[in-house]
Amino acid sequence: MGSREREVSDHGPRNTLNPKSQHVIFGKETNMTGKHARDSEVVLSQLMLPTDANPQGNVHGGTIMKLIDTAGGMCAVRHARTFVVTAEIDSITFLSPVYVGNLVTLRAHLNWVGRTSMEVEVCVEAENPLTGEITHTNSAYAVYVALDAGSKPKAVPPLIIETDEERRRWAEAEARRAHRLAMKQG
Ligand SMILES: CC(C)(COP(=O)(O)OP(=O)(O)OC[C@H]1O[C@@H](n2cnc3c(N)ncnc32)[C@H](O)[C@@H]1OP(=O)(O)O)[C@@H](O)C(=O)NCCC(=O)NCCS
Repeated sequence: MGSREREVSDHGPRNTLNPKSQHVIFGKETNMTGKHARDSEVVLSQLMLPTDANPQGNVHGGTIMKLIDTAGGMCAVRHARTFVVTAEIDSITFLSPVYVGNLVTLRAHLNWVGRTSMEVEVCVEAENPLTGEITHTNSAYAVYVALDAGSKPKAVPPLIIETDEERRRWAEAEARRAHRLAMKQG
């Protein structure tokens, strides 16, 4: 890591350009080695069984919510390489039902990191394995906080941003964070 990448700001994220790679490093702990979002991506697939069903016979919303938190949490752990807790999960909209027999696949990737917190986006799809039809059922944004051995918030590595898509995700996540913190303060 070059010396320009080791600048640390106590007042907010510092965007630092690596002149060799043209990567931009986002995050507060720039004395740590930056990591790519692709390094922590999680793909989790699970077959929905009768034990996942609600009384109507469709898959229980709580089953999907637990899977969202599992995939999102593992993504955060992969980035931080330490224990994490869920600080917040934004509202989840169920766009269409999931049925017993569907293969549900969740894709989780990191959008944003702060000093100790991380925003993970989780997309959920349900596949009818008999027809191959795939339905996007949910998207969710979750915030995880990395913890040290004493259960105190712990700094996480910065995130390396390379693509326009990653820049867009970062900017949108910052807006969501501002809204969350405003709601938290009341
Ligand atoms: C999440 C938790 C560790 C935060 O503790 P805290 O005393 O608020 O810690 P801090 O004020 O130092 O905040 C730590 C980070 O979390 C962020 N944060 C805290 N609450 C947040 C919220 N509701 N939404 C978004 N970010 C939040 C802070 O902005 C800060 O981010 P940064 O370091 O990247 O700037 C604490 O509230 C907790 O342990 N909650 C219970 C978690 C839990 O049991 N989850 C369910 C089971 S895993």
